Parts: sequence; C-alpha cells; structure tokens
Amino acid sequence: MLLYFEDQRDAALRLAHAATLAAACVERHRFPDGELRLRLPAKLPERVTIYRSLNNPNEKLVELLIATQTARSLGARQLNLVAPYLAYMRQDMEFVPGEAVSQRVVGRFLAGLFDTIVTVDPHLHRVATLQEAAPVKHAVVLTGAEALSDLIVQRRNKPLLVGPDSESEQWVALAAARHGLDYTVCNKVRSGDREVAVALPPTLVAGRAVVILDDMASTGHTVAAAARLLRTAGAASIDVAVTHALFAPDALDMLRALGIDEVWSTDCVAHPTNAVNMAPMLAQALRAIPGALAPDA
Ligand code: R5P
Repeated sequence: MLLYFEDQRDAALRLAHAATLAAACVERHRFPDGELRLRLPAKLPERVTIYRSLNNPNEKLVELLIATQTARSLGARQLNLVAPYLAYMRQDMEFVPGEAVSQRVVGRFLAGLFDTIVTVDPHLHRVATLQEAAPVKHAVVLTGAEALSDLIVQRRNKPLLVGPDSESEQWVALAAARHGLDYTVCNKVRSGDREVAVALPPTLVAGRAVVILDDMASTGHTVAAAARLLRTAGAASIDVAVTHALFAPDALDMLRALGIDEVWSTDCVAHPTNAVNMAPMLAQALRAIPGALAPDA
C-alpha cells in the first residue's frame, strides 16, 4: 500500500499507478495550537510505502515521525519512504563552530523510521553515498538529469548545457552525455542566502541556445547570476532545467525579468514548471528493492 498526504496527492497517485499499489490518504488535522492529528487506514499490510517529498520539511518530519510509528502499530513491518526531494542535504558540514550538520541529523532521523529511502538527486557533496547520510538498509538515489536532458533536446536544437556551480557538474555531465551535448560549469561563491557570484569559464556562448541545469533552484539567485553572464556573453536563448523546483515566491518573476525563456522541472516538487513525470522511475526503483513491495523470493 502507498500512503500519501492530500497536498501531494497527484504525484503520489501517479506513483501508485506506476507501481500498481493501492493508495490511501493519511488524514491530517492541524489543531489551532499547531499540533497535528493524523489518521491512517485502520489496518495496514506488511509492506507500506509513504510518499512524502520533503520541500518545506519541518512539519513534514513530525508527520513522518507520527505516521511511521502508527503504521508499525497498525501492522506494517516494512516501511519505505519515497521522498523525491530530500531536505537538509545541503547543510553537510560545520561551516562555523557549533553549527548543526543537519544532513547527518535528519538523515539518521529518517533512517530510524524507515527501512528504505528512495530519493532523486539529493545534494550529496561531501559524502559519497546517501547511506552515509541516512544509514538505512536500502538507500536508492535516482536522477532527474537524464529525463530533463530528453526534454531539453525535444525543445532546443543542440543546446549548450551550463551548470551554475562545481557541484552541478555531476548532473550536467550526465545530461550532456545522454545526447552528446556540449557542457560547461561555472564557479560560484555564495556569501548569503541571496548573494551569489558566478564566474563563467571561457566558452563559446555567442549565438547558442543555452540551458542552465542544476539539481534545484530555491531563491533563484544562482540561476539568475549565471543567466546574466550568459546574456552578456551573447547566448541566443536561455532556459532553465532543474530537478527540484523549490522556487521562493518571487524567484520565477526575477528569472522572467532577466529574459529567461522557459523553466522546466521534474515533478519531485509540485510546481507550475513541472514537465517531467518521475513516477515510472520511482516505481521501477521500488520494484528493484528486495522485499520492498513483496516478500523476498
Ligand atoms: C547548491 O549548490 C544547489 O545546487 C543550488 O545551486 C542552490 O541551492 C540554488 O539555490 P538558490 O536558487 O537559492 O541560489
């Protein structure tokens, strides 16, 4: 069975359909004091998958704490988390003394609740595997880069792919290799939430269709800084493709004001820019995990 929450119903039902799972909504009531009451189906099968993409994560982490313990008391023995967006992965070191390494804390918290985690393009920069951050039995990392690449080549002719920072190289290289596209990667220095400086390496940009590709856009300032440079360098068109469309409320307007043509994203985070359905890939991943959907052979 797949459990989901009403605000992520559409993506969850796409996954339930792709994985041939019965789906049920976790009823959620928020009391006036902010506390939550959850209600799950009264009886659960042995294997339960919870779909919860963890954008705006704080309240969702409490939901998962309550839902998983309740699910186990209602009969679930194997609990899988499908979190297409996994939160807190960017806070992966103590940048100043005393700062929380939230990646490790949240990763271990989730690993304590679930047997399996399936996610897409988690921001793993200083650790090599998801299991290091979230030590679950089965940790599965998928990527949206190739599906975004398939979309990009349908929309633009031989575009140049640009990663806005060194961390994006893993995804840009993958997307470029899939269709034999050129790519380059900028250098980024961030000095604040919305203060970002980007340098473009020497690249032939003039007259070319350019697509900026990254794992996520939040304030949009990383993409905006890269777009300004590309515009100055004479790009014929500039589009944006991201796996996770976190987009702060004013971010898209800022990008449009810079003359960015299209913004495409996967449905890992529900957003008007969604153009890639990840459900088939998520379903395939679940099916491949021993014991996740059916008893081990
Ligand atoms: C960080 O390295 C990520 O890959 C993104 O580049 C970053 O999180 C984007 O954030 P923003 O849109 O706020 O600049």
